[in-house]
Amino acid sequence: MTWKAWLGLAALSAFFCFRLGVSSRIKHHGPVNNHEWGTFPRKDDPFHFLPCTNATFPPSLDEAKPLEAWQRLSEPDPSKWLRGENEKDALFLCGWLDVPLDYTNASDERVMRISVARFQHHPKPSARTLIIQPGGPGGSGTWWVRAEGEKLSQDYTNSTFDVLGWDMRGTPSSQPAISCFPYSPVRDRWKMLTSLGYHEGDPRMSMLKADAFYEATFRECQRKYGDIPTMLTTPFIARDLEELRKALDEDELSGFFISYGSEIGQTYVNMFPNVVGRLILDGVQYQRNSRELAGYFTYSLDNVTAAYEDGFIGECIDAGPMKCALAKPLRDGLRAPTKEDLIATMDSLVKRAVERPIPGYTEESGPFIITGSILSAGLGDALNDPSSWSQVAEAFYSLLQGNATPMSTLVDDSWEYSPGSSNGDFPDHANFEMAMMIFCSDQYDSPLPPTFDVARNGEQWYLDLWKDMLDQTEIRGDWAFYATLPCRQYNATFGPPKELYRGDLNHTLSNPILLVSPTYDPGTPLRSGKRLLAEMGDNAKLVVHHGYGHTSLGDPSRCTDRWKREYFLRGALPENKETHCYADQKPYRYKD
Ligand SMILES: *[C@@H]1O[C@H](CO)[C@@H](O)[C@H](O)[C@H]1NC(C)=O
Ligand SMILES: *[C@@H]1O[C@H](CO)[C@@H](O)[C@H](O)[C@H]1NC(C)=O
Ligand SMILES: *[C@@H]1O[C@H](CO)[C@@H](O)[C@H](O)[C@H]1NC(C)=O
Ligand SMILES: *[C@@H]1O[C@H](CO)[C@@H](O)[C@H](O)[C@H]1NC(C)=O
Ligand SMILES: *[C@@H]1O[C@H](CO)[C@@H](O)[C@H](O)[C@H]1NC(C)=O
Ligand SMILES: *[C@@H]1O[C@H](CO)[C@@H](O)[C@H](O)[C@H]1NC(C)=O
Repeated sequence: MTWKAWLGLAALSAFFCFRLGVSSRIKHHGPVNNHEWGTFPRKDDPFHFLPCTNATFPPSLDEAKPLEAWQRLSEPDPSKWLRGENEKDALFLCGWLDVPLDYTNASDERVMRISVARFQHHPKPSARTLIIQPGGPGGSGTWWVRAEGEKLSQDYTNSTFDVLGWDMRGTPSSQPAISCFPYSPVRDRWKMLTSLGYHEGDPRMSMLKADAFYEATFRECQRKYGDIPTMLTTPFIARDLEELRKALDEDELSGFFISYGSEIGQTYVNMFPNVVGRLILDGVQYQRNSRELAGYFTYSLDNVTAAYEDGFIGECIDAGPMKCALAKPLRDGLRAPTKEDLIATMDSLVKRAVERPIPGYTEESGPFIITGSILSAGLGDALNDPSSWSQVAEAFYSLLQGNATPMSTLVDDSWEYSPGSSNGDFPDHANFEMAMMIFCSDQYDSPLPPTFDVARNGEQWYLDLWKDMLDQTEIRGDWAFYATLPCRQYNATFGPPKELYRGDLNHTLSNPILLVSPTYDPGTPLRSGKRLLAEMGDNAKLVVHHGYGHTSLGDPSRCTDRWKREYFLRGALPENKETHCYADQKPYRYKD
């Protein structure tokens, strides 16, 4: 596990990547009897599925004969097919579906080629398919299927559903994929040069420099992709999902959507209320917040401080020095720290790094500096994933002892590109510019706040926003600000998005859905889940998951998982509007 939260949860984290080596988890089994499965791709399969190998990525849009090119990727030797870990006969299938690039213009023939992956138990598809969506925007659903499709099917559906994931429009293995930098290291370089923390310089100058960089970035995106950025919107993604459902030939959509995926989910069910089957949104964002200027990130910060103080710090002290390094005294002869002591110690460490960055070194990348904003961003990111806390606490303890190497090594993982580490079998991961196009389009027509000076494009308003975000949380304030600032340049560069969903979220659905919101979620706070629940009325129930981390996946609860299973298997929901479930274990003390 790296410092980058689980699945990086692709979390809201335009700025942080997810790069769990998937290759290590993918095992090939064989030899296996394949005659039941027949040959691939099957006739009339809209997804053109082939057994997944490390090369089954959709053919290029330039390919004159895509089906023939695809057929050449077919691996004839069944022993090389990717199979289930436990179910040796189940297969991982990879494919693609062409959907309209522009749903608003029937005479536009351009397509979006969506990359999909499916975990399928038997040669005959299961009656229901669980569609999974990891959020981001830009998290790879195909990656998630390959890494965890079998486990999700087991855990949530008693292995009765197949599992399908897709890479949302604009992300690397779907096409056209959006990437406005020719090489990831270039993006890293500029991001580093243009993301000073509020306290690390003159805030106005820092902001204007970053803003100029975002302007340059968006202009390049516009030059390279023309009108495509205006088609990266949540309702278009919801329409893609509807195309997937139709291609699956299932009457109802079943799915497990997390984080930003919850926004796709609530948009989808209100655009297509009659085909809703069993859908769980976990780590719930409230779509109406995203319609406001800077809304998504402003509303994400509710519980960051509590997650840090009660969670990362408080649980560390409770766990004690055998389980959490930071609970140890700093020097022999000192007493063990209290929660307040540790908060103060960490605070002064970050301040020290703001005043003068701490020199470091890594085996892989050589000389290094650890700045104050790196430390706070890293802490903020760690809050997504409590299972990373022991390791992060260890690195902080070493840093406090004067050894910067463990921290440098953790931080080194956060670059988009590192020549020393591989990205598994997957193409380059999603990037901030495509994620920003989606976030910024969501807030495109937001009414402007009264203090927004249009002539200066809200310069002072943005500076005040930065300060407000930091007042709310020193740990995530800078991160949230830089995640939202690019939108300042959206209007001028791209113009109106092709479609926005501005309707109510209380349509009467063919089946009610289930919401799950953690109490200490650093990105999608409980308040958002409650607001969505209030608007959806009888069309949803909420499980309040008392635990840490982003979504309920990082700090599991048998109770939460039981509701997920009951719902997927039997359509059963809790009776009460809100049900409370508690995490099974405590951070720093997980046994697995
Ligand atoms: C796929 O794996 C094979 C061996 O397992 C390797 O030779 C080949 O280079 C890989 N291809 C890609 C695109 O990674
Ligand atoms: C619709 O697509 C056609 C064909 O590409 C194009 O000529 C036309 O300008 C488009 N209309 C709009 C409103 O974008
Ligand atoms: C899960 O599936 C097994 C075997 O198919 C069955 O015996 C068992 O009753 C199922 N469990 C539940 C909770 O449905
Ligand atoms: C999360 O934030 C909300 C809104 O600010 C607050 O009411 C709630 O108490 C917070 N939760 C925790 C666990 O601190
Ligand atoms: C962006 O343009 C839309 C449509 O003209 C307008 O309603 C909105 O206020 C603009 N937003 C900003 C931040 O200028
Ligand atoms: C949805 O809420 C709006 C108020 O925001 C209300 O006018 C409308 O009747 C509601 N629709 C349904 C189907 O309950």
